[in-house]
Amino acid sequence: GKGNYRHFMEKELHEHPVVLGDTLRQYIDPASRAVALPELPFDPVAVPKISFSACGSAYLAAQVGRYWIEQVARIPVDADIASELRYRDPPLPEGGAALLVSQSGETADTLAALRLLRERGQRVLSVVNVAESSMARESHGTVLTVAGPEIGVASTKAFTAQLAVLASLALGFGRARGTLAPAEEARLTAALLEVPAHAAALLEDSSEILELAREVAQARDVLFLGRGSLYPIALEGALKLKELSYIHAEGYAAGEMKHGPIALIDPAVPVIALCPSGPLFEKTASNLQEAAARGGRIMAFTDAAGAPALRRFAERVVVLPAVDPFVAPILHAIPVQLLAYHVAVLKGTDVDQPRNLAKAVTVE
Ligand code: F6R
Repeated sequence: GKGNYRHFMEKELHEHPVVLGDTLRQYIDPASRAVALPELPFDPVAVPKISFSACGSAYLAAQVGRYWIEQVARIPVDADIASELRYRDPPLPEGGAALLVSQSGETADTLAALRLLRERGQRVLSVVNVAESSMARESHGTVLTVAGPEIGVASTKAFTAQLAVLASLALGFGRARGTLAPAEEARLTAALLEVPAHAAALLEDSSEILELAREVAQARDVLFLGRGSLYPIALEGALKLKELSYIHAEGYAAGEMKHGPIALIDPAVPVIALCPSGPLFEKTASNLQEAAARGGRIMAFTDAAGAPALRRFAERVVVLPAVDPFVAPILHAIPVQLLAYHVAVLKGTDVDQPRNLAKAVTVE
């Protein structure tokens, strides 16, 4: 049941801390802070390429996974929408790895991509939340997200659990390949293990996000901006807002604004920016300042170190716990999902069962 929550989605949003902790404990030993990967169907040291394939939010998790694996393990990675992979016909190297990401393990397009990648000689690893699913059965190996059953149609806790698995895999690959120094591994695993507590702190008081939701609920169009690993989270924010509140939203890479979308900037189009401090902060902040200078209303998620610079031009600044930039996409996923939830509740849409959508899309 929903317990004391109004919707399954609200309950599942509040399960983020527990699910993140449970999932991370499967792959990281809290005492030694070392990543302990399960047996994999390919050797991360020798693998020439990784091809991710997934749909919807799971595809966005895969995109974050690509940034992580490239950054710490230096393996070339592709990430495709499953329904596109089949028709793109990419050249696949002998012994390459295919990673399928799916909550249900039953999504028709992802399953079709799995079969195609397998036929083309790829070693298939699925990241799924359902151990007995079709994808788990048809893969050479499976790693599980420990999210528990997800009832709300919009993926919430399964999404952050996917991120937790992919971050662990990236660190494990980096360790195996020697591209991640032991001290760096310890620092990043420690940062990951702190995420559940930060997530809990963030969920304790969502009054600022509720205030933001009241403004967003008035809008007809909304832009979400992010850079680097926060770019797929901007896409996640836009996807969740669309599917739950039926407000038109787009996610963009912050640096891409000036190549077209900046023409949309208008006081009626709120700009939700994901802009934590870190190596990309100045770049993103300057893109936001350009949007503000053209009348854009900037609503930014950042941390204490990023807040003063953004307050100079942003209408609202929501300060999240300070974390290592490596884990920032996990932490930022939670407020954008919360925002979409609150906007949908304000608009009175069916949060757990949005129109036209199904929990598992088993048709192509
Ligand atoms: C969005 C959402 C969907 C799913 C997509 C893939 O909130 O839930 O985009 O992520 O349909 O589903 P799975 O992960 O079951 O393959």
